[in-house]
Amino acid sequence: MSDIGIPLSSPYIDDDDRRVVNDVLNGRTLSIGPWVERFEGLLATTSGRAYAAAVSSGTSALHLIVRALGWSRGDEVITTPFSFVASANCLIYENVRPVFVDIDPVTRCIDPAAIEQAITPRTVGILSVDVFGYPADWAAVEGIARKHALAHVSDSCESLGTVRRENGRDIPAGKSGVAGAFAFYPNKQITTGEGGAVVTDDERVARLCRSMRNQGRDEGAGWLQHARLGYNYRLSEMNCALGFTQVSRLDEIKRLRSAVAARYLQLLEPLREWIEPPPTDPAVDLSWFVFVVSLREQFTAEDRNDILARLRARGIGCSNYFSPIHLQPYIQEHLGTARGDYPVTERIADRTIALPFYTALTAADQEHVVRELTALLTRPLAAGSGTR
Ligand SMILES: Cc1ncc(COP(=O)(O)O)c(C=O)c1O
Repeated sequence: MSDIGIPLSSPYIDDDDRRVVNDVLNGRTLSIGPWVERFEGLLATTSGRAYAAAVSSGTSALHLIVRALGWSRGDEVITTPFSFVASANCLIYENVRPVFVDIDPVTRCIDPAAIEQAITPRTVGILSVDVFGYPADWAAVEGIARKHALAHVSDSCESLGTVRRENGRDIPAGKSGVAGAFAFYPNKQITTGEGGAVVTDDERVARLCRSMRNQGRDEGAGWLQHARLGYNYRLSEMNCALGFTQVSRLDEIKRLRSAVAARYLQLLEPLREWIEPPPTDPAVDLSWFVFVVSLREQFTAEDRNDILARLRARGIGCSNYFSPIHLQPYIQEHLGTARGDYPVTERIADRTIALPFYTALTAADQEHVVRELTALLTRPLAAGSGTR
């Protein structure tokens, strides 16, 4: 494969970030120190929650929420197949059955209209995902959860900073449901290298998550006193210091990423015959995670894969976000899912192209990406349906 000249994603690190991490390294406390609490305080404020627990990844955040809610063998949780695998894996770890329902074709998030038909006597919860930063229909999911006495968990790993205006109120990502999860891998809006967080208003959930991330120790208990089964899902002081300075700049980062997205939307306007841009909504203050366009129906998955390969060969980072969870081989084996089960998810997943997208992406690089994409979309097809 050729060198990638314009990467798919890139972290946005400044001198403040370097300074705080260096300060931690110059001290004695590299774990379980003051930066964990500072970072958690900022995350709680950002998500409008009473509590935050910083953990080692978005996956561990989701896993701890599942454990704290007591979801276990025999339980079913309704969720989306159009997501990163961790949103289903966190259930499978605990022998909970993910029950997939299809997505809304515009928002690409779970379709609330499909949820109620999937409820059975074994259903204990709904796990929604804010796909590519775009909020799931939190109010609709909440309404269904309340009506059926189910717990709602919000996988907001991709949406830190997104705010939806609902009935005159601003609802931030992570605020919906009993608990929310964030993730801070380097492709995210803000990064801690690796990291994640649980946010919640439920004191019990917060306490359990904090205990379980620290090998089941209760607060104030001795190092070798373990009240329950736990894990080492802690996040180091270096990570938390970096997270603190990164989240402190979230408004600026959001603004820069919105400007990058707006430029793409404008540049892609002449390509509407071939591609559908990502959704926007005046009621949604979107914290852009990735920029994923969908090829129109006349393209096949083979056409899309050919375009991805050719973009990469031209040094342009790109990806087929997401490969549906229900079609992953181990999921098919475990749950008996198959192609055809979730047609909207499959139609979209076959045609997505994530373009290079990051906070410092330049206008010149975006113009180059769109020029190359235009050339590929308008040429006679080598692979695929030949319907154009
Ligand atoms: C929707 C979603 N859920 C969960 C995760 C898991 O986060 P992590 O990679 O930090 O474990 C991710 C990460 O990309 C994600 O996009």
